[in-house]
Amino acid sequence: MRIILLGPPGTGKGTQGKFIIKKYNIPHISTGDILRENISSGSIIGEKIKNTMIQGKLVDNNIICDLITKRIQKKDCDNGFLLDGFPRNIEQAQYLSRKKINIDYILELLIPYKLILERISGRRIHLNSGRIYHIKFNPPKEKNIDDFTGEKLCIREDDKIEIVKKRLKEYIQLSQPLTQYYQEKKIQDNLKYFQLNGANTLSEVKKNIDFILKNSYF
Ligand code: AP5
Repeated sequence: MRIILLGPPGTGKGTQGKFIIKKYNIPHISTGDILRENISSGSIIGEKIKNTMIQGKLVDNNIICDLITKRIQKKDCDNGFLLDGFPRNIEQAQYLSRKKINIDYILELLIPYKLILERISGRRIHLNSGRIYHIKFNPPKEKNIDDFTGEKLCIREDDKIEIVKKRLKEYIQLSQPLTQYYQEKKIQDNLKYFQLNGANTLSEVKKNIDFILKNSYF
């Protein structure tokens, strides 16, 4: 089971990704999480990545493709994986194709852009695990504390409003050619490409994804 999750910032890719990987027992490969780990490590490359991310821009394709290749080669990906945040542009999609990394499903979460700021401004994360909360829609049991470790939650540095606006602008520019690319593949290669309403409640989106994966795998 190889799945790609597409969608604008704050649409729920990370949140739904966590449900999918649990159910299908596949690893969650989130490029955002991998990049944040690199930043936390304090490496030189991490510093470079941080400077790009806080400008709301995409990290260099070579860096990302290299990180993805290394991650997919790991043994736990033998039975599939979920890609969250990759590909983000045509070059990255073509990279997968060139490397003959075939994909079974593309699930694209769509959301009116006006909802994005509400989603992102209430987001809190547990940095070490990548667990995602929302102060209103998915609150932790105790305010600002991770349910499992008791550690403090934090706000992502790139969740500041002015950076989110730039991330969204970047997304709008790149998403149309990318979805067009996959729409064509859907016809040529019989790719299972589904668009879902990400504006629904968390459990409704989950139910719709479950339905798709259960009923169209074979
Ligand atoms: P990344 O971390 O991937 O960010 P993103 O794609 O912008 O997506 P987000 O993580 O912001 O949102 P999400 O869709 O996962 O939503 P979530 O589930 O958290 O990338 C960050 C940066 O890294 C990029 O800007 C770029 O610089 C770099 N990067 C990453 N990949 C790259 C690549 N391939 N190439 C180059 N650069 C790359 O949900 C959001 C909030 O809403 C949460 O609080 C959640 O609880 C809540 N929520 C979720 N679903 C619902 C719902 N249905 N109803 C109500 N609330 C909900």
